[in-house]
Amino acid sequence: MTRHLKKAELHCHIEGAAPPALALAQARKYNVDVGGLIEDGAYVWTAFSDFLLCYDRIAGLFRSEEDYAALAEAYLVALAEAGTIYSEIIVSPDHGNTIGLGADAYLRGLGAGIEAARARTGIEGRMIITLIRHLGPEQAERTALYAATRPHPLVTGINLAGEERMHRVADFARAYDIARDAALGITIHAGEMAGADSVRDALTIVRPSRISHGVRAIEDPGLVAQLAEAGVVLETCPGSNIALGVFPSFDAHPLRALRDAGCRVTLNSDDPPFFNTSLAQEYEIASAVMGFADAEIDAMTRTAIDAAFVDETTRARLFAALDA
Ligand code: ADE
Ligand code: ZN
Repeated sequence: MTRHLKKAELHCHIEGAAPPALALAQARKYNVDVGGLIEDGAYVWTAFSDFLLCYDRIAGLFRSEEDYAALAEAYLVALAEAGTIYSEIIVSPDHGNTIGLGADAYLRGLGAGIEAARARTGIEGRMIITLIRHLGPEQAERTALYAATRPHPLVTGINLAGEERMHRVADFARAYDIARDAALGITIHAGEMAGADSVRDALTIVRPSRISHGVRAIEDPGLVAQLAEAGVVLETCPGSNIALGVFPSFDAHPLRALRDAGCRVTLNSDDPPFFNTSLAQEYEIASAVMGFADAEIDAMTRTAIDAAFVDETTRARLFAALDA
C-alpha cells in the first residue's frame, strides 16, 4: 500500500480532472445533453483524437469563475486527502476564451480554488498555462504572450498539449522563446502519441527542464542517454499511457527502464477520471504492479519537488513537508 507515502504531481489537466458525477451536475446546471459522453458514471471515448473531443466537450460544461474555483478546490482537496502536498494543474486560457468567460476570469476562478484548497488542507498548487497544439502556432504565440504578462501569481510555467501529430515542435519555437524570456518554467508534451523524434525535437528546440510524458524516448537508446545526461525530468503518466494504448500493459511500460538508465522520473495522473486513475492509483501501480520500493517512489516524489515550478522558499517548505 502507498497510502502512507506523501505525494506530488506535476502533470494534471484540470478540465481532465473533473469527475463524471460533477460533469453531469454541470450538464444539468447548463441544460446540456451529454448523452454518449458519459455512460455508467464513466467518460466514453475510443482513440486519442476521440478522447480530445470528449475532453473538450466536458471542459465546455465549466463556464463561470465559480465553476472553475469549485473544480480546482474539489480536485486539490481530494489530492490532499490522499497525502498529496503539491500539485501543478495544467490550465488553458484558450478554453476560458472559447467559452466566453475570458482568460483572466478563468485563471481567477482556478486560482481561488487553489487558495481555498490550501486554506483547508495545506496543499500547495500552481498553474501551468498550456498552448494547444491543434489550434496552431499563431494562436500558441498569442497565448504565450498572454502567459508572459504573468496574468496570475500562481501561473509559473508553460506547456504544449493537444494533438501531438499536428504541426512540428519547431513551429512552436517562437511561442517558447516568448515564455522563456518571461522566465516561465518550461515543459512540453512529447513522446506520447508521437515517437522518439518528437522528444528529440522537444529537447533540442525547446530546451525544457521537464517533458510531459517523454516515455517514447525509450525507442531510441541514444536519446535516453541524452535525457539522463541533461537531467530533464519526465512527467510520466503510466495509467494514461495504458488507457490510450501507448503501451500494451504496465509490464511493457518503460518507467523502470528509463529510471534505470538514469532519467529523472515522476508519477502523474494526466486526466485521471478519463483514464480510470488517480494520483494515488498511479503511486499504487508503481508499487504493486511495477514493483518499486517505497524508497524508490519517494525518490520520484523528491524529483517532482525538485523540478516543481515554484520559488525556492516554497520548494524548501515542500521538502520539509516531505521529510516531516
Ligand atoms: N490534453 C489533455 N490531455 C492530454 C494528453 N494526455 N495529451 C495531450 N493533450 C492532452
Ligand atoms: Zn497531459
